[in-house]
Amino acid sequence: MQLPYSLLLLLLCCLACQDRPVNESQTKTNMSYTEQHRPQFHFTPPEKWMNDPNGMVFYEGEYHLFYQYYPDGTVWGPMHWGHAISTDLLHWEHLPIALYPDSLGYIFSGSAVVDWNNTSGFGVDGQPPLISIFTYHDMEGERQKTETFQSQAIAYSNDKGRTWTKYEGNPVISNPGIRDFRDPKVIWDEDSAQWVMVFAAGDHVMLYGSQNMKDWTFLSDFGREWGSHGGVWECPDLFPITIEDTGEEKWVLLLSINPGGPNGGSATQYFVGDFDGKAFTLDPSFIEALGPIDQGESEEPEKAIWLDYGRDNYAGVTWSDIPKADGRRIFIGWMSNWDYAREVPTEKWRSAMTLPRTLSLENTAQGPRLFQAVVSEVEGLTKEIKAFSFDQLNGEEVLTESKKSATSQWRIQLQATVADLESAALEIKLVNDLGEEYKIGLDGKTNRFYSDRTKAGKISFSEKFAVGKHWADRQGQNQQLEIDLIIDRSSAELLADQGAVALTDLFFPTADFTKIMLSASSNVTNIKGKIYEVTGVW
Ligand code: FRU
Repeated sequence: MQLPYSLLLLLLCCLACQDRPVNESQTKTNMSYTEQHRPQFHFTPPEKWMNDPNGMVFYEGEYHLFYQYYPDGTVWGPMHWGHAISTDLLHWEHLPIALYPDSLGYIFSGSAVVDWNNTSGFGVDGQPPLISIFTYHDMEGERQKTETFQSQAIAYSNDKGRTWTKYEGNPVISNPGIRDFRDPKVIWDEDSAQWVMVFAAGDHVMLYGSQNMKDWTFLSDFGREWGSHGGVWECPDLFPITIEDTGEEKWVLLLSINPGGPNGGSATQYFVGDFDGKAFTLDPSFIEALGPIDQGESEEPEKAIWLDYGRDNYAGVTWSDIPKADGRRIFIGWMSNWDYAREVPTEKWRSAMTLPRTLSLENTAQGPRLFQAVVSEVEGLTKEIKAFSFDQLNGEEVLTESKKSATSQWRIQLQATVADLESAALEIKLVNDLGEEYKIGLDGKTNRFYSDRTKAGKISFSEKFAVGKHWADRQGQNQQLEIDLIIDRSSAELLADQGAVALTDLFFPTADFTKIMLSASSNVTNIKGKIYEVTGVW
């Protein structure tokens, strides 16, 4: 993203009020949350601007979600870490702001861990401290064009994340002269018995190692010649994951990029490989799929493997310290896009997170690839309202129609067999009384899924919002189709082909959608599925 220099003024204002009392309304959980477009079972801040998820860590039965937050406006401004906790990843309690900007700068994105062995020495009374690792962004340095205005820093908490003390020795990694130098994610690597930090440095990531979180040594870098470089690299995540059917351990590097996404603007790509305690190296299947970037003047598009093809899943990373007995790798992303995030038509708050999703790594004909599913906790919110089954469809079928006043909160699960992929088409359409429609479907000819919000209501707030259909490549020629689609008033999350393909898009209908329609070409057979209503969490 580009940071406007004029925000220096706001920094000064912010420094003046960094010790202000917490806004009472932030701690309330029984807020109405009834504003138009407000998601009902996705995380949103009580009010004002939010971007990236930060510092996700699980400790003592609580999932922590921190986030890039500007408490004084509905557009990006001096960054704080907002804070919420949950015991089920769905019902959130808003807590006071965790980190305020200070004389070293705004608090940019980062991560948090439990320091189980008190390697940092910040623990008290035998209790492990929580440590957050974030980027300081010094606006004054940026204004003076120093190129060294971002650095990595830490803070710790001895009260389950309720209050935080910034380390007096900050920053722990100073900037060597790299303009974009941010978004640290830290993990404890058991094999090399060290903390490993990965952060974005312009067109690559840097890896550092530490024994105590305070002193860091450079390990390696990765990525200059791999993947998409249509924009600056941001918000990496690096974690081990086991391929389910073989038990083989691999490492995944998530990498957000803005702009340069497959359908424009912000998006997240990923790499699969190995990590030996020093360097991340690509899996042969990724070397083959990506091919190194042509350093010459080639017009060839850079190849990338995308985590999500939609336009509204950015800066996502995964939770730390999920207990081994649970074993999930749980992801959440910011459900927006820097192309228009500041302009979306919501008044009181801006932006939501995706639903938390479980990531798994599976062997496919193309090599190991990530699969996604919304966390199983979501099933506790759903109630079946309709089951359907068609041998085939000729024309359009109304699957369900709800009362005018109902909000559109649905989960639609569908399976079908596609005999001749080349000539197949299937489309789910959400419609309201004003004739606005949002469409999601399969285009057999190109073997891609699509999302079409061009007629879904408000689009004129940004010329970049509804340019055309958004496309998502399928991973293979599978004739068995499986769709899991989650609608929460102003968002659609499509997880298709058992989670091999993800597409997340926002839309802003003038009135809520009330009808779900289905159409399919005659060579799509054995169509069956269910529609669930999803209860709100606020
Ligand atoms: C990604 C990002 C990060 C940065 C933060 C600032 O959306 O640009 O790189 O830390 O947002 O709010």
